[in-house]
Amino acid sequence: MTHVFLDACKRKKVEYTPVWFMRQAGRYLPSYAKMKGNRGVLQAVKDPELASDIAVEPVKLLGTDAAIIYADIMIPLEAIGIDLSIKEHYGPLIARPFKSEKDVERIKELKPEKLYFLGEAIKKIKAKLQKSIPVIGFSAAPFTLASYLIEGGPSSDFVKTRMAMHDEILWQKIMGSLVDLISDYLAYQVEYGIDAVQLFDSWAGAVSSSDYERFILPYTKRVFSNLPANLPKIHFCANSSHLIEKFAQTGADVLSVDWRVDIASVWKRTDEKLAVQGNLDPALAVVGGKEMQLAVSKIMQAAYGHKGHIFNLGHGVLKETNPENLKKIVKIVHRWEMA
Ligand code: CP3
Repeated sequence: MTHVFLDACKRKKVEYTPVWFMRQAGRYLPSYAKMKGNRGVLQAVKDPELASDIAVEPVKLLGTDAAIIYADIMIPLEAIGIDLSIKEHYGPLIARPFKSEKDVERIKELKPEKLYFLGEAIKKIKAKLQKSIPVIGFSAAPFTLASYLIEGGPSSDFVKTRMAMHDEILWQKIMGSLVDLISDYLAYQVEYGIDAVQLFDSWAGAVSSSDYERFILPYTKRVFSNLPANLPKIHFCANSSHLIEKFAQTGADVLSVDWRVDIASVWKRTDEKLAVQGNLDPALAVVGGKEMQLAVSKIMQAAYGHKGHIFNLGHGVLKETNPENLKKIVKIVHRWEMA
């Protein structure tokens, strides 16, 4: 498949800047609530017809250049039998958080038949988009999954995880097992035809740069290196301006950065070797109007002349967002005169 989004990931020359939005299939869309009904996200993703409709809807409505599978980062953990739930307006909850090496034995081998629904959904998304729009597969990175397993749920400081990092044997075991699980999970998605992959290491910004290099980078690297070489690979991390140079060593083709960093500096800090995705503040997509348009233009200006830009928000679409604002962003980005 050739497509402007895939070309931008590989820093090829493009006619226009591709754009999609993290969490583009989500609560801000009235049609999402309607389709999902009273089902929880973990239930909804297991219905391939529904999950594929949910993934395709924002592409049709907003005109984005990529679809992302409708799944969640908790899916591979659930598939190996970890007892968990997702609490609405809060986040994932692990019934028995990991406390010692013994708990790591609960990270079992992933059986492909447990993911049957996901393979079916990917096939349906591709068919519904007539194979003309790339489909992004995703997983959490090892650190972000480890943080949920250890903290037991969302955390603001990740203290337990940052302590566990310094327990050498425990850390090697948990991160090693998660590399295998995530690699199997992504290999399954590749088998069903995803066109690119995004690895969410959403919370890795919680650690120092030297700890990132010692305790996280080697594992993220292994996940990327287990994927096909030509598959476009996107790395996302929030709140991580101090880690940009390290992310360049993960094997990612694209760094997805949040709004706290100046996007032009990301190309400079990575020697113009990587593509960059981002980075509008999701709050501005809620605000809309002139302020939003100005901020979008600023990002486009900053990206001007750099190879490989994919427009996105700095993190997921907020539920208060008016879809019309996202449509407007797509229009501005697509019409921008290229270098
Ligand atoms: O368009 C898309 O991006 C949808 C696919 C998607 C979901 N989760 C579905 C979902 C993706 C890419 C994710 C990734 C995800 N899930 C991450 C990494 C991305 C990030 O934001 O940094 C994380 C940390 C999670 C864990 C998780 N799942 C959280 C924090 C929540 C929110 C809880 C809430 O109710 O606010 C979820 C639930 C979830 N997963 C929702 C969606 C659309 C929202 C709840 C719902 O629709 O029921």
